[in-house]
Amino acid sequence: MSRAVVLVRHPEGSVEEGDFGVVEVPQSALPAGHFRTRNRVISLDAGFRQWMTAGAGDNYLTGMQIGDPVQSIVLGEVTESDHPDYPVGTLVSARTAWEESSVLDGADLCSPLNVAPDIPLYHYAGMLGPTGMTAWIGLFKIGQPERGETVVISAAGGAVGTVVGQLAKAAGCRVIGLTSTRDKADWLEREVGYDQVIDRNTQPDLAAALLAACPGGIDIFFDNVGGQTLDIVMGQLREQARLVLCGAISQYESAVEPLTNSWELITKRARMEGFMFSDYFEQFPQIAEDLLGRLQRGEIKSFDAVYEGIERTPCAFCDMMHGASRGKCLVTLD
Ligand SMILES: NC(=O)c1ccc[n+]([C@@H]2O[C@H](COP(=O)([O-])OP(=O)(O)OC[C@H]3O[C@@H](n4cnc5c(N)ncnc54)[C@H](OP(=O)(O)O)[C@@H]3O)[C@@H](O)[C@H]2O)c1
Repeated sequence: MSRAVVLVRHPEGSVEEGDFGVVEVPQSALPAGHFRTRNRVISLDAGFRQWMTAGAGDNYLTGMQIGDPVQSIVLGEVTESDHPDYPVGTLVSARTAWEESSVLDGADLCSPLNVAPDIPLYHYAGMLGPTGMTAWIGLFKIGQPERGETVVISAAGGAVGTVVGQLAKAAGCRVIGLTSTRDKADWLEREVGYDQVIDRNTQPDLAAALLAACPGGIDIFFDNVGGQTLDIVMGQLREQARLVLCGAISQYESAVEPLTNSWELITKRARMEGFMFSDYFEQFPQIAEDLLGRLQRGEIKSFDAVYEGIERTPCAFCDMMHGASRGKCLVTLD
């Protein structure tokens, strides 16, 4: 038997721990060409909230069904194998589910992991895994920062946000964050290295606060939030600005808000581009090597909120979705 976290009801609005349940799953015989993993780290990824809503599903992923294990990026160790590329003992990163054991065939963002000495395994679900890839790809491939530019990052205190902020700072940019609370804003300025962070609790007038923080306008907006925040930023761009559409978390649990400032993209000759990190799968090894080098040189740090035990996964996911955690939110199963 192993345990899995399943969706017991589709979240309506704000996701709650009660939307999930922990169930025992009997182990079936291993099909030909597959391998079994003992999972060790579960990555909590905000994007999966999109596919939990009733009737969700799009060109990228199908919607989750009641009773299904919740999808996720997971790190595991192969314990049984009928797959030549994944012998017993191999460490693996894959898109599978919130479960203690998985049966995989090597598809769906699956790859063996080479863990560097002195690096905790869970970093490969965060800074050196999909989170770091997303931050790196969005900033360097789409945003293309130049020294001296002003970069604004929404959901600055989350997994992707804390990595983008550090990379943009290392690229010589002035880095402004948007977050939920003043406490988190102070932490981002003090520990993560943001030049200035605007919090929506004490500074509810985002347009005025942004204008004060970026009087010359915004060169790059790395957006994890969408909706009204995106609309306000669209009204404060410099010429040739780049808007990196990474996520739209403000819209995952509430009605979609209209964008009214699109004319600004024309007069400012701005570029707005969305991306999915998975499209760059072939480049992951090179990007991970760059991030590992920066981590080992002390140029960037990994900020993690680590929960223990599969039964903590629903709590960890809700904390992450609602800003109660800082940095990368993970569950370890060791
Ligand atoms: N395109 C891709 O390939 C890709 C890949 C991975 C993730 N993503 C996207 O990147 C974003 C961040 O994902 P993550 O997994 O790293 O999660 P995360 O940033 O660690 O956690 C989500 C954060 O979003 C902020 N937030 C929550 N509700 C909000 C609201 N209503 N308005 C504004 N901010 C809100 C909170 O941060 P604060 O307290 O700091 O506000 C919260 O901690 C998500 O939008 C996700 O969909 C995209």
